[in-house]
Amino acid sequence: MKHFLDIHTTDPDDLRSMLDEARAMKVARNSRPKGTPDDEQPLAGRMVALIFEKPSTRTRVSFDMGVRQLGGQSMVLSGGEMQLGHGESIADTARVLSRYVDMIMIRTNEETILHELAEYASVPVINGLTNESHPCQIMADMLTFEEHRGSMAGKKVVWVGDGNNVCASMLHAAGQMGFNLTFTGPMQLDPDPKAVGFARDKGAEVVIERDPARAVEGADLVVTDTWVSMHDAQSTRERRHNMLRPYQVNDALMAQAGDQALFMHCLPAHRGEEVTSSVMDGPQSVIFDEAENRLHAQKAVMRWCLGL
Ligand code: CP
Ligand code: NVA
Repeated sequence: MKHFLDIHTTDPDDLRSMLDEARAMKVARNSRPKGTPDDEQPLAGRMVALIFEKPSTRTRVSFDMGVRQLGGQSMVLSGGEMQLGHGESIADTARVLSRYVDMIMIRTNEETILHELAEYASVPVINGLTNESHPCQIMADMLTFEEHRGSMAGKKVVWVGDGNNVCASMLHAAGQMGFNLTFTGPMQLDPDPKAVGFARDKGAEVVIERDPARAVEGADLVVTDTWVSMHDAQSTRERRHNMLRPYQVNDALMAQAGDQALFMHCLPAHRGEEVTSSVMDGPQSVIFDEAENRLHAQKAVMRWCLGL
């Protein structure tokens, strides 16, 4: 059994095989009605706990559907309604849940919580987003890019806006899969230096460019995310908006990038803030393929974790 905690701690060959399996499962899947089981039922008789300490639409529904399609069952648990939210230690929660369920997916706050859960669990643990990372999202993003444009190796990804948790996982992927990343945003919101260092150490070119118009030139992929993440204090909202307004992804910025550039956003998006509706719904946008691919990518992640 293996944990899926972060992109940079997962072997690149394993990432590759999960993406290939996700693609194959997607092709097989899309010939059937949504709720029906897959031909292969590797999770038959298995129970997966899906723990949420923060809100979610995509992660919750795509994991739940993925488990069902693979023949398993899932239970969705809200952190605040568990003893976890009332002082029971992470380690004890991990030990107890491991006696009941076959796998745990958790969306939590600090990355240290995820790592403690994984250390004390005797079943696989999957990272469904922390304040510092969102690896399942980036698996879906890579699957989506490959479907539209082929290999990411050597490609130019431009991250626009806040250098947040999702950006860190994209940097990890740049290092692991050999693509380059240009970050454009205000200095105060630069990406995690450890993630930048990881990508550079692995040979990815990471460029910090304050001018968004220059940054996106020749991009193969333009990506942005919300200006205020779930872990950001609401009191920082106005300051963040003021800093990030020059970094809105709009038609002018996409024109500057060129027709070859795809547009992605992990969603939920705030139309008219970090991105305009014209870009979200425009010809370069693949946001709903990206959302769909959470399902297929995570099914491959779950199979990999259980060796099934
Ligand atoms: N992209 C993503 O993780 O969406 P949810 O917050 O809705 O799960
Ligand atoms: N950066 C966002 C991603 C949501 C899927 C957040 O953490 O709120």
